[in-house]
Amino acid sequence: MKVIVTCAFGLESLVKRQLMDMGYDNLNVNDGRISLEGNEDDIAKLNINLRCADRVLIELANFKAVTFEELFKGVEKINWTEILEADSNFIVEGRSYKSKLFSVKDCQSITEKAIIKNLQKKYKIDWFSKSKNRFRIEVSLVKDICSITLDTSGDGLHKRGYRTHTGLAPIRENLAAGIIDLSFASKNRPFVDLFCGSGTFAIEAAKKFRNIAPGIDRKFDFMDFNQKFNNAYKSEKKSALQRIDYDSRIDIFASDIDGSSIEKAIENAENAGVREDIRFVTRDFRNVVLKDNYFVLISNPPYGKRIGERKEAEKIYEDLGIKMAKFNTASEYIITDSEDFEKFYGKKASKNRKMYNGNMKCYLYQYYGPKPK
Ligand SMILES: C[S@@+](CC[C@H](N)C(=O)[O-])C[C@H]1O[C@@H](n2cnc3c(N)ncnc32)[C@H](O)[C@@H]1O
Repeated sequence: MKVIVTCAFGLESLVKRQLMDMGYDNLNVNDGRISLEGNEDDIAKLNINLRCADRVLIELANFKAVTFEELFKGVEKINWTEILEADSNFIVEGRSYKSKLFSVKDCQSITEKAIIKNLQKKYKIDWFSKSKNRFRIEVSLVKDICSITLDTSGDGLHKRGYRTHTGLAPIRENLAAGIIDLSFASKNRPFVDLFCGSGTFAIEAAKKFRNIAPGIDRKFDFMDFNQKFNNAYKSEKKSALQRIDYDSRIDIFASDIDGSSIEKAIENAENAGVREDIRFVTRDFRNVVLKDNYFVLISNPPYGKRIGERKEAEKIYEDLGIKMAKFNTASEYIITDSEDFEKFYGKKASKNRKMYNGNMKCYLYQYYGPKPK
């Protein structure tokens, strides 16, 4: 099967690196999409273990289509009865970019009609109840090339299942995991988040350090495709459970000024099975006492989107810069939407990277400290 892993723009290299670490080669990387060859076991492995990806898709067909007839024929040709049963709940989604077939709604509707025509040949029925397991199919047109894919993930992979509570501006779990992967954070160094909100960075760090697969506790659409997929899920989940590192000593500190956020973060950490690994404290970051012990700080301070809040956010960046200047051995990673962050922080970043938290354009300011002796 041709498998496509999707991810946020800018995170391709991180996803590629993880895929290579997992033993995949022959990877084809294109804006937000990485393709590879795989089978049912790979679908399970990718969904359960990928930390920064969005979804895992199976490509069913790829052809040129500039008319609705070409689209219809290309979709009808796919052996849908191998995939869908008479009562499968199939949903067609769509997108079109720089293509003659630009009406996404029409493309969805043509695709659905072609699938139904194909299914009618075998199942000999006119009405499809769509009452059983879900299959999300996507018709995607990019520069007149049509790709028909089946989504194996269901909910996006950023939904790990543990975050039942969030604050006002939570960071996406897979973006948090990506930033941790980019950073010097490791189980051998103290980890600090001084603006933890719902606890995402601390929880993702704990999961990484304990080698807990990100998707270990959630459901995926592919589990209900057929028995072969279901067996692949069970076997991958079993080996993911065996890989958990229960023994390492890890040091994670997470604080926030808002007590109700800390309560939510504690609940989320409990859901994720890492409550014991994180020290949560309700405190203004200015009053947190830290040791100069090669800690890695990863934080997402307030954005200050609204006018009155901007000044407050800038004061926070300034005070954070003054605080962090006292630590010679720390490495810091700050994600914010501010283009002027370095000016307020008082220090030029070793590296600055553009990233998207959902639709919000942000920058990751990276300050590299020395390696631990
Ligand atoms: C953008 S949110 C962080 C979201 C977090 N990364 C998450 O995933 O939920 C910023 C956080 O900074 C906290 N905050 C604001 N002022 C603070 C201060 N002076 N000291 C510590 N935390 C503060 C807010 O309560 C809020 O939770």
